Amino acid sequence: MNIFITGASGFIGGSIAAGLARDGHHVRGLTRKTENAAELKRHGIEAVIGSLDDRELLIAEAKWADAVINAADSDHRGAVEALIDGLAGSGKPLLHTSGSSIVGDASGGEAGAAQIYHEDALPEPTADKAPRVAIDTLVLDAAKRGVRAAVLCNTLIYGNGVIAGSASVQLPRLVRQAQKSGVVRHVGSGSNIWSNVHIDDVVDAYRLALAKAPAGTFYFVESGEASFREMSVAIAEALKLDGPQAWPIDAAKAEWGYEMASYGLGSNSRVRGERLRTQLGWQPERTSVNDWIRTEMLSAA
Ligand SMILES: NC(=O)c1ccc[n+]([C@@H]2O[C@H](COP(=O)([O-])OP(=O)(O)OC[C@H]3O[C@@H](n4cnc5c(N)ncnc54)[C@H](OP(=O)(O)O)[C@@H]3O)[C@@H](O)[C@H]2O)c1
Repeated sequence: MNIFITGASGFIGGSIAAGLARDGHHVRGLTRKTENAAELKRHGIEAVIGSLDDRELLIAEAKWADAVINAADSDHRGAVEALIDGLAGSGKPLLHTSGSSIVGDASGGEAGAAQIYHEDALPEPTADKAPRVAIDTLVLDAAKRGVRAAVLCNTLIYGNGVIAGSASVQLPRLVRQAQKSGVVRHVGSGSNIWSNVHIDDVVDAYRLALAKAPAGTFYFVESGEASFREMSVAIAEALKLDGPQAWPIDAAKAEWGYEMASYGLGSNSRVRGERLRTQLGWQPERTSVNDWIRTEMLSAA
């Protein structure tokens, strides 16, 4: 199959692109940087140099491809509109990468209401997350325009990215702060909980969705959950550093920025993804982020 993927030099997109190239697909991957082309080629990915703002390029690549995966940016509406326009009426698959901060409660690192969300009963998003949810809806509605479109809403992803230098979003930020200051810190008491999933299982989920996701389907991608306190204890052990310590939300925002401190690290995002399992037969192999932190995280670095 000819596959076009955005975010091909990144943690999620690069791991998926390399996996699909290994499976024997012809994979073309978007990157803004010519210097990434050699690393992509090493993994069997043909680099397409360009940006998510290059509407005509995205439309042309979508028309060339038998399937499209958008894994560069969950919040870039223009790119999604271009990809859908390029695929409209073709019946081809479009997999869009979203993130489960769409159910985040910005609890300041506290346990909050302990609400667990399911795919068929999503909450109204906060004002901060409404634009991301609107993009997810745009993708799902592309089913009505003849696109086999699906949203894969990933939780906290851990594990090693395939592309050299790529790293996930949340845990690496906790680790960098800890290494810089010598103290592992979490937002508030750290009793906030996120669902999570290993990158290898994410790649398998995209493989299955590419092959058989029905048009207009929303999936949560998760295989476990942990509190930030638990993950921070594991990080402190792995790095042999002090902590973890509670951090007031304002100090966390100064270090990580509003979005990351409020949602990525300071909210609850507890979801259950039944559809991947029941509909597509997904069987995640990894279920403990804390084991990965303790036994494998440093080998990743
Ligand atoms: N990692 C997670 O746990 C997780 C979970 C759920 C959702 N998400 C979301 O999924 C998306 C990808 O996450 P990731 O962890 O894979 O991030 P990442 O490692 O930073 O990868 C994103 C890639 O997208 C490319 N990119 C970014 N902006 C672009 C633009 N304007 N034009 C063209 N390419 C662009 C970058 O490639 P170049 O610099 O080479 O162009 C980058 O390598 C993000 O929106 C993230 O919030 C992540």
